Amino acid sequence: MATRPAVRCSPRPRSRGTAAWLLPAAALLLLVVVVLRWSPMGSYPPVSPGGAGPVPNRRAELYAKMARDLDERGAAFLRGGETSQSLTLSDLFGTADDGAVVPRLKAADPPVRANVLYLNPEFAAVISKAVKEVFRPYFDQVIWFQNTSMYHFSMFHASHHLEPIVATEDEIEAEVEAVKRVTKTVCPLKIVLDRVVLTSTGVLLGLWQVESGTDPAEIRSRLRDALPRAPQKQLYDPVLLHTSFARILGHPKLPQERSASSFDHTKFFHELVAQVNGKLHGFQATVSELWYVEEFDVLALALNGRMKVRRLHLGCGRQRNEES
Ligand SMILES: *[C@@H]1O[C@H](CO)[C@@H](O)[C@H](O)[C@H]1NC(C)=O
Repeated sequence: MATRPAVRCSPRPRSRGTAAWLLPAAALLLLVVVVLRWSPMGSYPPVSPGGAGPVPNRRAELYAKMARDLDERGAAFLRGGETSQSLTLSDLFGTADDGAVVPRLKAADPPVRANVLYLNPEFAAVISKAVKEVFRPYFDQVIWFQNTSMYHFSMFHASHHLEPIVATEDEIEAEVEAVKRVTKTVCPLKIVLDRVVLTSTGVLLGLWQVESGTDPAEIRSRLRDALPRAPQKQLYDPVLLHTSFARILGHPKLPQERSASSFDHTKFFHELVAQVNGKLHGFQATVSELWYVEEFDVLALALNGRMKVRRLHLGCGRQRNEES
């Protein structure tokens, strides 16, 4: 059976034993490097609590920068085995006998402990439908759609793979209690979908602005205070509010006249993204839960891996140490 380009391993011969762990590890590292490029930690001053003014502007600037990623780097995920980014995705996914895309789950050791805001499936279903309408005709079996039960916004990690902070069961329960105390002070968020972007690594992201509720920058700051052992370096810019909608794994299926080598893929992707934006720009949602998630597989939230979830309701109560 022919293997699809998206899931083909590197064409170079190599020792199976080494490749089995080296490539996924290298690929993951590169994925992280790409993610970190969007989040130049330290290039922003610390957020002052309650300071609503500059945060939406910073967010808009960050989103404009993320939107330029595809133009600046091109569709790296289409360049077969030649780019690290492409290897990243092909190491995360395989193909089932019926041709369906399936994640290749790999144990996370130690498990990652993530705090994420959770998007109710009633909202996620609307988004997913629009994304599938636009992308499915061209990508059929070389696209992975985020599970609508698992749409989330990464906020703050108590432990991540770059800086693992091993914790006992008791320490984990203490973290959950500390996070619970934070969620009691956090107000539900009304958010609006600002724009959808496709990154050079093939990830379709929703980027959101906040209309009301506790700002993500403030939520992260409170989680930082509540989880003093957490990695100093976090994975995302403090103002970022994003959800992953889909991951493109290979070349689009195009009518003959568009598949010539002169075909401008970047332009084509921009057209698709513009269509999704046309359907979804301005879409409003309410977020009222924060999840403390132990991910037992790498990228479990993204790939339907094994995890343990504590669902915490945003209580919007008064902060105990409020000064003003
Ligand atoms: C989506 O996630 C839900 C909740 O974890 C799970 O029950 C369901 O099987 C997942 N769907 C797919 C297609 O994996």
